[in-house]
Amino acid sequence: MKFDILTLFPEMFESLTKSIIGRAMEKELISINLVNIRDFSKDKHKKVDDTPYGGGAGMVMKPDVVYDAYKSVKDKKAKVIYLTPQGKTLNQEIVEQLSKEEHLILLCGHYEGIDERVLEEIVDEEISIGDYVLTGGELPAMVLIDSVSRFIEGVLSEESTKEESFSNGLLEYPQYTRPEVFMDKKVPDVLISGHHENIKKWRQEKSIEITKKKRPDLLKNIKN
Ligand code: ADE
Repeated sequence: MKFDILTLFPEMFESLTKSIIGRAMEKELISINLVNIRDFSKDKHKKVDDTPYGGGAGMVMKPDVVYDAYKSVKDKKAKVIYLTPQGKTLNQEIVEQLSKEEHLILLCGHYEGIDERVLEEIVDEEISIGDYVLTGGELPAMVLIDSVSRFIEGVLSEESTKEESFSNGLLEYPQYTRPEVFMDKKVPDVLISGHHENIKKWRQEKSIEITKKKRPDLLKNIKN
């Protein structure tokens, strides 16, 4: 899977080179290409924004600069995603769907936003990571890359994405590791029993119980 990121702050993506995503890049399971939008400014001061027509606070990113940055990575097969609080809220279903794409171009906005005309021209889908406003689209783009990459074959072990919160519409059962007793609390007996059927049943029951308690809203769209 190829990600092209159009951003004014490419250095923010450094943290992605660590840990699991970094390893996936080394193994060439994913590639992340950072495109600095500022490199496409034709202005001698490298200006990328201007005041909004009609007045108001803040600055608006210029359409020609954003378009030229897009043109540098343009590909008919790519899906262009604009990270914005106005988009569809990202969830595990959208994440899994996006992981089937070959090439994603992620557009990160800043300031008061991006000139509407270039958005109309290039954007296929708008995605939000929640109902709050961030200073830019970089953190949302990183959230999207991290969550989508986990579904790419070879990035994680298969079981990790099969048995986790949301994979069957429920939250995940609780996990325990050694020591067997911690602060007078013992690991549930069933998990030490070695009885796989009983363990499976216990985990299913716990999943339902935890979902009822913490996220009852999820129970209405349960898949089975
Ligand atoms: N840009 C600013 N806030 C955002 C959000 N919540 N989701 C996606 N992009 C954003």
